[in-house]
Amino acid sequence: MKARPFLKWVGGKSQLLNQFEDYYPRELQNRKIQKYFEPFLGGGAVFFEIMQRFDVKMAYLSDINKDLILTYWVIQQNVEHLIDILYNYQKKYDATKQEDRYALFLAVRAQFNEERFEINYDYLCDDWIERAAQLIFLNKTCFNGLFRLNSKGGFNVPFGKYLNPTILDEANIRSVSKLLQKADIRIAPYDECLQNIDNQSFVYFDPPYKPISKTASFTAYTGNEFGDAEQIKLAQFFNQVHIEKGAKLMLSNSDPKNENPNDNFFENIFINHQFHRVSANRAINSNGEKRGAINEIVITNYQYEPQALALHF
Ligand SMILES: C[S@@+](CC[C@H](N)C(=O)[O-])C[C@H]1O[C@@H](n2cnc3c(N)ncnc32)[C@H](O)[C@@H]1O
Repeated sequence: MKARPFLKWVGGKSQLLNQFEDYYPRELQNRKIQKYFEPFLGGGAVFFEIMQRFDVKMAYLSDINKDLILTYWVIQQNVEHLIDILYNYQKKYDATKQEDRYALFLAVRAQFNEERFEINYDYLCDDWIERAAQLIFLNKTCFNGLFRLNSKGGFNVPFGKYLNPTILDEANIRSVSKLLQKADIRIAPYDECLQNIDNQSFVYFDPPYKPISKTASFTAYTGNEFGDAEQIKLAQFFNQVHIEKGAKLMLSNSDPKNENPNDNFFENIFINHQFHRVSANRAINSNGEKRGAINEIVITNYQYEPQALALHF
Protein backbone atom coordinates (compact mmCIF):
# COMPACT_ATOMS: atom_id res chain seq x y z
CA MET A 1 0.00 0.00 0.00
CA LYS A 2 1.24 3.46 -0.94
CA ALA A 3 2.15 5.55 2.11
CA ARG A 4 0.47 8.95 2.35
CA PRO A 5 0.95 11.91 4.73
CA PHE A 6 -0.43 10.88 8.12
CA LEU A 7 -1.10 14.47 9.26
CA LYS A 8 -3.03 17.41 7.86
CA TRP A 9 -0.50 20.23 7.70
CA VAL A 10 -0.88 23.85 6.75
CA GLY A 11 0.62 24.36 3.31
CA GLY A 12 0.45 20.61 2.57
CA LYS A 13 1.39 19.88 -1.01
CA SER A 14 -0.83 16.86 -1.76
CA GLN A 15 -3.07 18.88 -4.09
CA LEU A 16 -0.05 20.13 -6.06
CA LEU A 17 1.73 16.82 -6.67
CA ASN A 18 0.31 16.40 -10.19
CA GLN A 19 1.57 19.81 -11.20
CA PHE A 20 4.92 19.34 -9.44
CA GLU A 21 5.69 16.28 -11.61
CA ASP A 22 6.67 18.59 -14.43
CA TYR A 23 9.33 20.29 -12.38
CA TYR A 24 11.23 17.44 -10.72
CA PRO A 25 14.78 17.01 -12.03
CA ARG A 26 15.04 14.43 -14.80
CA GLU A 27 18.03 12.85 -12.99
CA LEU A 28 15.47 11.19 -10.70
CA GLN A 29 14.61 8.81 -13.53
CA ASN A 30 18.03 7.48 -14.30
CA ARG A 31 19.05 7.01 -10.66
CA LYS A 32 21.54 9.81 -10.73
CA ILE A 33 19.81 11.21 -7.64
CA GLN A 34 20.65 9.09 -4.61
CA LYS A 35 19.62 11.41 -1.78
CA TYR A 36 16.40 13.35 -1.24
CA PHE A 37 16.24 16.26 1.25
CA GLU A 38 13.16 17.94 2.70
CA PRO A 39 14.32 20.46 5.34
CA PHE A 40 10.84 22.02 5.92
CA LEU A 41 9.17 18.65 6.31
CA GLY A 42 5.68 19.39 7.70
CA GLY A 43 3.29 16.72 6.38
CA GLY A 44 5.94 15.55 3.88
CA ALA A 45 3.66 15.12 0.84
CA VAL A 46 6.54 15.48 -1.62
CA PHE A 47 8.76 13.08 0.36
CA PHE A 48 6.07 10.36 0.11
CA GLU A 49 5.74 10.96 -3.62
CA ILE A 50 9.44 11.05 -4.50
CA MET A 51 10.49 8.05 -2.42
CA GLN A 52 7.75 5.80 -3.81
CA ARG A 53 8.05 6.89 -7.40
CA PHE A 54 11.75 6.96 -7.92
CA ASP A 55 14.65 4.81 -6.90
CA VAL A 56 16.28 7.09 -4.33
CA LYS A 57 18.52 5.49 -1.69
CA MET A 58 18.04 7.77 1.29
CA ALA A 59 15.87 10.65 2.48
CA TYR A 60 17.06 13.38 4.87
CA LEU A 61 14.05 14.88 6.60
CA SER A 62 14.05 17.73 9.09
CA ASP A 63 11.91 20.43 10.64
CA ILE A 64 12.24 22.74 13.65
CA ASN A 65 8.96 21.52 15.11
CA LYS A 66 10.15 19.12 17.84
CA ASP A 67 6.84 17.35 18.38
CA LEU A 68 6.33 16.84 14.67
CA ILE A 69 9.75 15.18 14.37
CA LEU A 70 9.20 13.15 17.54
CA THR A 71 6.06 11.76 15.86
CA TYR A 72 8.01 10.75 12.74
CA TRP A 73 10.62 9.05 14.95
CA VAL A 74 7.97 7.09 16.81
CA ILE A 75 6.38 5.92 13.56
CA GLN A 76 9.81 4.96 12.28
CA GLN A 77 10.90 3.07 15.40
CA ASN A 78 7.87 1.93 17.36
CA VAL A 79 4.81 1.91 15.12
CA GLU A 80 3.00 -1.07 16.72
CA HIS A 81 2.98 0.49 20.18
CA LEU A 82 1.72 3.76 18.68
CA ILE A 83 -1.06 1.91 16.84
CA ASP A 84 -2.20 0.36 20.15
CA ILE A 85 -2.52 3.80 21.76
CA LEU A 86 -4.22 5.36 18.74
CA TYR A 87 -6.64 2.41 18.66
CA ASN A 88 -7.73 3.32 22.18
CA TYR A 89 -8.10 6.99 21.29
CA GLN A 90 -10.25 6.08 18.28
CA LYS A 91 -12.40 3.73 20.37
CA LYS A 92 -12.86 6.34 23.08
CA TYR A 93 -13.70 9.14 20.65
CA ASP A 94 -16.21 6.99 18.73
CA ALA A 95 -17.89 5.89 21.95
CA THR A 96 -18.23 9.45 23.27
CA LYS A 97 -21.39 11.43 22.48
CA GLN A 98 -20.77 14.42 20.20
CA GLU A 99 -21.60 16.91 23.01
CA ASP A 100 -18.99 15.31 25.28
CA ARG A 101 -16.21 15.13 22.70
CA TYR A 102 -15.20 18.73 23.30
CA ALA A 103 -14.24 17.88 26.88
CA LEU A 104 -12.25 14.86 25.66
CA PHE A 105 -10.38 17.09 23.17
CA LEU A 106 -9.63 19.68 25.87
CA ALA A 107 -8.32 17.00 28.23
CA VAL A 108 -5.88 15.63 25.62
CA ARG A 109 -4.81 19.17 24.69
CA ALA A 110 -4.19 20.07 28.34
CA GLN A 111 -2.16 16.89 28.86
CA PHE A 112 -0.12 17.55 25.70
CA ASN A 113 0.65 21.06 26.96
CA GLU A 114 1.45 20.09 30.55
CA GLU A 115 3.82 17.32 29.52
CA ARG A 116 5.86 19.49 27.16
CA PHE A 117 8.24 20.44 29.95
CA GLU A 118 9.05 16.84 30.81
CA ILE A 119 9.88 15.48 27.38
CA ASN A 120 13.48 14.59 26.65
CA TYR A 121 13.77 14.76 22.87
CA ASP A 122 17.12 12.95 22.89
CA TYR A 123 16.04 9.40 23.76
CA LEU A 124 13.14 7.29 22.56
CA CYS A 125 10.99 6.24 25.52
CA ASP A 126 7.35 5.44 26.25
CA ASP A 127 6.62 9.14 26.88
CA TRP A 128 7.40 9.82 23.24
CA ILE A 129 4.90 7.25 22.02
CA GLU A 130 2.12 8.71 24.16
CA ARG A 131 3.03 12.21 22.95
CA ALA A 132 3.05 11.18 19.28
CA ALA A 133 -0.42 9.66 19.78
CA GLN A 134 -1.63 12.89 21.40
CA LEU A 135 -0.27 14.95 18.50
CA ILE A 136 -2.01 12.72 15.93
CA PHE A 137 -5.26 12.80 17.97
CA LEU A 138 -5.13 16.62 18.20
CA ASN A 139 -4.25 16.97 14.51
CA LYS A 140 -7.30 14.89 13.50
CA THR A 141 -9.77 16.51 15.90
CA CYS A 142 -8.68 20.17 16.06
CA PHE A 143 -9.79 22.93 13.72
CA ASN A 144 -8.40 22.34 10.20
CA GLY A 145 -5.44 20.30 11.46
CA LEU A 146 -3.62 23.49 12.42
CA PHE A 147 -0.51 23.42 14.59
CA ARG A 148 -0.34 26.74 16.40
CA LEU A 149 1.40 27.59 19.65
CA ASN A 150 0.72 30.51 21.98
CA SER A 151 3.52 32.75 23.22
CA LYS A 152 4.27 30.31 26.06
CA GLY A 153 4.63 27.41 23.66
CA GLY A 154 1.24 25.83 24.42
CA PHE A 155 -0.81 24.26 21.61
CA ASN A 156 -3.95 26.42 21.37
CA VAL A 157 -5.92 25.31 18.30
CA PRO A 158 -9.67 24.99 19.04
CA PHE A 159 -11.81 21.86 18.67
CA GLY A 160 -12.74 20.92 15.08
CA LYS A 161 -16.20 19.37 15.74
CA TYR A 162 -15.68 16.61 13.16
CA LEU A 163 -18.24 13.80 13.27
CA ASN A 164 -16.11 10.86 12.10
CA PRO A 165 -12.43 11.72 12.16
CA THR A 166 -10.02 8.92 11.30
CA ILE A 167 -7.63 9.05 14.25
CA LEU A 168 -6.06 5.69 13.45
CA ASP A 169 -5.37 4.74 9.83
CA GLU A 170 -3.59 1.52 10.63
CA ALA A 171 -2.60 0.40 7.13
CA ASN A 172 -1.26 3.80 6.17
CA ILE A 173 0.73 4.35 9.34
CA ARG A 174 2.42 0.94 8.85
CA SER A 175 3.28 1.85 5.26
CA VAL A 176 4.66 5.17 6.49
CA SER A 177 6.80 3.33 9.02
CA LYS A 178 8.20 1.08 6.30
CA LEU A 179 9.08 4.01 4.09
CA LEU A 180 10.71 5.90 6.98
CA GLN A 181 13.26 3.08 7.33
CA LYS A 182 15.06 4.83 4.47
CA ALA A 183 15.06 8.20 6.24
CA ASP A 184 17.41 10.16 8.46
CA ILE A 185 15.04 12.36 10.52
CA ARG A 186 16.15 15.34 12.60
CA ILE A 187 14.97 18.31 14.60
CA ALA A 188 16.96 21.05 12.87
CA PRO A 189 16.77 24.46 11.25
CA TYR A 190 16.81 24.11 7.45
CA ASP A 191 20.43 25.19 6.96
CA GLU A 192 21.79 22.23 8.94
CA CYS A 193 21.07 19.93 6.00
CA LEU A 194 24.04 21.43 4.14
CA GLN A 195 26.68 18.97 5.33
CA ASN A 196 25.07 15.88 3.78
CA ILE A 197 24.17 17.39 0.40
CA ASP A 198 26.27 16.38 -2.61
CA ASN A 199 25.97 16.48 -6.39
CA GLN A 200 23.69 13.43 -6.37
CA SER A 201 21.14 15.15 -4.15
CA PHE A 202 17.72 16.67 -4.77
CA VAL A 203 16.58 19.22 -2.17
CA TYR A 204 12.98 20.41 -1.97
CA PHE A 205 12.43 23.56 0.14
CA ASP A 206 8.89 24.23 1.29
CA PRO A 207 9.24 27.12 3.75
CA PRO A 208 6.33 28.76 5.54
CA TYR A 209 4.63 30.93 2.94
CA LYS A 210 5.30 34.56 2.51
CA PRO A 211 1.80 35.82 3.50
CA ILE A 212 -0.26 36.41 0.36
CA SER A 213 -2.44 39.15 1.80
CA LYS A 214 -2.32 41.45 4.77
CA THR A 215 -4.90 39.35 6.61
CA ALA A 216 -3.32 35.99 5.79
CA SER A 217 -1.13 34.59 8.49
CA PHE A 218 0.37 31.29 7.40
CA THR A 219 3.61 31.90 9.20
CA ALA A 220 2.59 30.96 12.74
CA TYR A 221 3.68 27.30 12.66
CA THR A 222 5.79 27.13 15.77
CA GLY A 223 5.62 30.63 17.15
CA ASN A 224 8.61 31.58 14.98
CA GLU A 225 8.11 34.18 12.29
CA PHE A 226 9.24 33.49 8.75
CA GLY A 227 9.01 36.99 7.35
CA ASP A 228 10.78 38.75 4.49
CA ALA A 229 14.18 38.73 6.22
CA GLU A 230 13.96 34.93 6.63
CA GLN A 231 12.85 34.50 3.01
CA ILE A 232 15.91 36.48 1.88
CA LYS A 233 18.24 34.40 4.09
CA LEU A 234 16.73 31.24 2.63
CA ALA A 235 17.33 32.53 -0.92
CA GLN A 236 20.98 33.13 0.01
CA PHE A 237 21.20 29.58 1.37
CA PHE A 238 19.62 28.22 -1.85
CA ASN A 239 22.31 30.04 -3.82
CA GLN A 240 25.05 28.76 -1.55
CA VAL A 241 23.92 25.14 -1.98
CA HIS A 242 23.62 25.71 -5.74
CA ILE A 243 27.16 27.01 -6.02
CA GLU A 244 28.94 24.77 -3.49
CA LYS A 245 27.19 21.42 -3.94
CA GLY A 246 25.98 21.11 -7.52
CA ALA A 247 22.74 19.59 -6.20
CA LYS A 248 19.31 19.87 -7.83
CA LEU A 249 17.16 22.35 -5.91
CA MET A 250 13.45 23.11 -5.97
CA LEU A 251 11.58 25.60 -3.76
CA SER A 252 7.91 26.54 -3.57
CA ASN A 253 6.22 29.55 -2.03
CA SER A 254 3.14 31.73 -2.33
CA ASP A 255 3.17 34.11 -5.30
CA PRO A 256 3.04 37.80 -4.31
CA LYS A 257 1.87 38.55 -7.87
CA ASN A 258 -1.57 37.23 -6.87
CA GLU A 259 -1.99 40.49 -4.98
CA ASN A 260 0.22 42.79 -6.96
CA PRO A 261 1.44 41.80 -10.47
CA ASN A 262 4.34 44.22 -10.09
CA ASP A 263 5.66 42.63 -6.90
CA ASN A 264 9.05 41.15 -7.83
CA PHE A 265 10.09 40.11 -4.32
CA PHE A 266 11.12 36.57 -5.30
CA GLU A 267 12.50 37.53 -8.75
CA ASN A 268 14.80 39.96 -6.95
CA ILE A 269 16.20 37.41 -4.53
CA PHE A 270 16.34 34.27 -6.73
CA ILE A 271 18.36 35.68 -9.59
CA ASN A 272 19.41 33.33 -12.43
CA HIS A 273 17.04 30.55 -11.40
CA GLN A 274 13.99 29.17 -13.22
CA PHE A 275 10.51 30.38 -12.21
CA HIS A 276 7.35 28.32 -12.78
CA ARG A 277 3.77 28.81 -11.59
CA VAL A 278 1.24 26.24 -10.41
CA SER A 279 -2.38 26.75 -9.40
CA ALA A 280 -3.55 25.97 -5.86
CA ASN A 281 -6.85 26.11 -4.05
CA ARG A 282 -5.99 27.76 -0.73
CA ALA A 283 -7.55 29.59 2.15
CA ILE A 284 -6.82 33.18 1.25
CA ASN A 285 -7.58 34.93 4.49
CA SER A 286 -6.64 34.30 8.07
CA ASN A 287 -9.84 32.60 9.26
CA GLY A 288 -9.74 30.14 6.38
CA GLU A 289 -13.29 30.84 5.24
CA LYS A 290 -12.40 32.46 1.97
CA ARG A 291 -10.89 29.99 -0.48
CA GLY A 292 -9.93 30.35 -4.09
CA ALA A 293 -7.56 29.37 -6.90
CA ILE A 294 -4.30 31.25 -6.57
CA ASN A 295 -0.88 30.82 -8.08
CA GLU A 296 2.10 29.46 -6.20
CA ILE A 297 5.63 29.73 -7.44
CA VAL A 298 8.09 26.91 -7.99
CA ILE A 299 11.73 27.86 -8.36
CA THR A 300 14.35 25.43 -9.66
CA ASN A 301 18.09 25.71 -10.23
CA TYR A 302 17.78 23.50 -13.33
CA GLN A 303 15.96 23.71 -16.66
CA TYR A 304 12.39 22.56 -17.06
CA GLU A 305 12.34 19.64 -19.50
CA PRO A 306 8.75 18.41 -19.69
CA GLN A 307 9.29 16.03 -22.61
CA ALA A 308 11.91 13.99 -20.80
CA LEU A 309 9.52 13.55 -17.88
CA ALA A 310 6.53 12.81 -20.12
CA LEU A 311 8.33 9.68 -21.34
CA HIS A 312 8.65 8.45 -17.81
CA PHE A 313 5.08 9.01 -16.63
C1 LIG B 1 4.91 24.84 4.52
S1 LIG B 1 5.26 23.84 5.91
C2 LIG B 1 5.75 22.45 5.06
C3 LIG B 1 4.61 21.79 4.34
C4 LIG B 1 4.99 20.37 3.92
N1 LIG B 1 6.06 20.33 2.95
C5 LIG B 1 3.79 19.57 3.47
O1 LIG B 1 3.68 19.19 2.31
O2 LIG B 1 2.92 19.36 4.32
C6 LIG B 1 6.66 24.56 6.59
C7 LIG B 1 7.35 23.81 7.70
O3 LIG B 1 8.58 24.48 7.98
C8 LIG B 1 8.89 24.39 9.35
N2 LIG B 1 9.83 25.47 9.66
C9 LIG B 1 9.59 26.78 9.91
N3 LIG B 1 10.75 27.46 10.07
C10 LIG B 1 11.75 26.56 9.89
C11 LIG B 1 13.18 26.64 9.94
N4 LIG B 1 13.80 27.79 10.17
N5 LIG B 1 13.89 25.52 9.71
C12 LIG B 1 13.27 24.34 9.48
N6 LIG B 1 11.91 24.19 9.44
C13 LIG B 1 11.17 25.30 9.65
C14 LIG B 1 7.55 24.46 10.05
O4 LIG B 1 7.63 23.82 11.31
C15 LIG B 1 6.62 23.74 9.04
O5 LIG B 1 6.44 22.39 9.39
